[in-house]
Amino acid sequence: MTTLGILGAGRVGTAIAREALRVGCDVLIAASGDPNRIALIAEVMAPGAKAVTAAEAVASADITILAVPLHRHSTLDPQIFAGHIVIDAMNHWADTDGPLPAEAVAGTTSEMVAAHLAGARVVKTFNHIGYHEMASDPLPANAPGRRALAVAGDDAAAREAAMELIDLLGFDPVDAGPLVAGAVFEPGTEIFNGRFDRAGLMAQLELAGVVDTAS
Ligand SMILES: NC(=O)c1ccc[n+]([C@@H]2O[C@H](COP(=O)([O-])OP(=O)(O)OC[C@H]3O[C@@H](n4cnc5c(N)ncnc54)[C@H](OP(=O)(O)O)[C@@H]3O)[C@@H](O)[C@H]2O)c1
Repeated sequence: MTTLGILGAGRVGTAIAREALRVGCDVLIAASGDPNRIALIAEVMAPGAKAVTAAEAVASADITILAVPLHRHSTLDPQIFAGHIVIDAMNHWADTDGPLPAEAVAGTTSEMVAAHLAGARVVKTFNHIGYHEMASDPLPANAPGRRALAVAGDDAAAREAAMELIDLLGFDPVDAGPLVAGAVFEPGTEIFNGRFDRAGLMAQLELAGVVDTAS
């Protein structure tokens, strides 16, 4: 994995961009409009990241990360994502997103996003770590206490690609299985509110009734 696409040039998008650049990825970053509008943000917040359109980012990336406010997910053009690996790092945050959309009430927000981006290979992760912790928490593989991040998605190869990226960025990936399992690390859950190493996260997933398929 060498090229990361990031949709969203805000807190999460630029934090992941900086870290991806640090570990040697190429980074293409986009907001909703003309890339020229975020060229300066990219230059200052993630030097080395290239500001492009959303379509260009997705088309050229091995993995694309969605880091836009959840209520904006419906503005994403599904056609550009078909067949692509997409990491949903978004959360429902009432202050910015308003009430939970009706289509998400019965399921998880990532299932709602996957339904909108029909044909995309959607994986949920990076949602249960603060943007500032992307820089403060990475540790080398096998370091004691290395922070773990849960990964849920219905496409096993897409989950595997996301797990490789997580490891590259300095975290232990833990496979939580299908996308629906993301329910146990949405806001308000123990996992969302906590900070766990691999063993701790696996224990939390087990407590929540989710089987770890990677161990
Ligand atoms: N803050 C955290 O620590 C944290 C941690 C994990 C997950 N999250 C979740 O991550 C998401 C992003 O949070 P944030 O704090 O980074 O938000 P933010 O700082 O408000 O940034 C959002 C970015 O998304 C862009 N955007 C909006 N619509 C877009 C579209 N259709 N295509 C491409 N870009 C678009 C915005 O730019 P324009 O409006 O100019 O296009 C802006 O650059 C949220 O769902 C949040 O809940 C946050």
